[in-house]
Amino acid sequence: MDEEIELLLGDLQEHTELTFSGVTLHKGMLDGVPVLVTRGGIGKVNAAMTTTYLLQQGASRVIFTGVAGGVHPDLRVGDIVVSTDLVQHDVDVTALGYGLGTIPGEEPAWQADKHLHELALEAARDVDGVQVVAGRVASGDQFIASREGVQRLWKDYKASCAEMEGAAVAQVCAKAGVPFVVIRSISDTADHDANVDYRTFMPLVARHAKQVVRGMLSRLSAQSSA
Ligand code: ADE
Repeated sequence: MDEEIELLLGDLQEHTELTFSGVTLHKGMLDGVPVLVTRGGIGKVNAAMTTTYLLQQGASRVIFTGVAGGVHPDLRVGDIVVSTDLVQHDVDVTALGYGLGTIPGEEPAWQADKHLHELALEAARDVDGVQVVAGRVASGDQFIASREGVQRLWKDYKASCAEMEGAAVAQVCAKAGVPFVVIRSISDTADHDANVDYRTFMPLVARHAKQVVRGMLSRLSAQSSA
């Protein structure tokens, strides 16, 4: 979202911009690491397109942050989920004998990179007053705002949270062999109040996302100079 990338762009050094079909990539240095910062847009198609541009411009790792609706019953607004793996909950080719959520010819779930996952957990634990968990992220082109929707994602996928982009980023990165991780702050509990909570808590969780990304970059920078 704009709210999230603006917080990062404020500190971007040697800032230049590259634009492709309406997608702007902000190139520069952040915490000693060369980065491309961009807004993924909403939904799986926008996320896949943006990720493709990032990889074409040489991104060697992808860190994707944003907000999500909590599905795991213990999650509260503000908590942070670091992806173990990701599924596309709106894919259904069961009529042809494939498992729910499986795209023919693809794995049923995309695994996040273990090193980035650990770095993200470490950085997220520095955010005060929130619970940090490792879990499955379920993506689909739907804003989930009902108890039935939450129950379906829990029953069918054992998802920790629901959002609209992560698994598309994962699919593109996995095809290219590029490590990735998805980090989501819970903005709502995906039930009947989801739309109100989402708007209320977005600014807070955007600040948390910034803190986690900066924490990861500092650690990556320290590791590469060690
Ligand atoms: N992003 C934030 N909250 C969400 C929800 N409830 N469903 C899908 N995407 C979301």
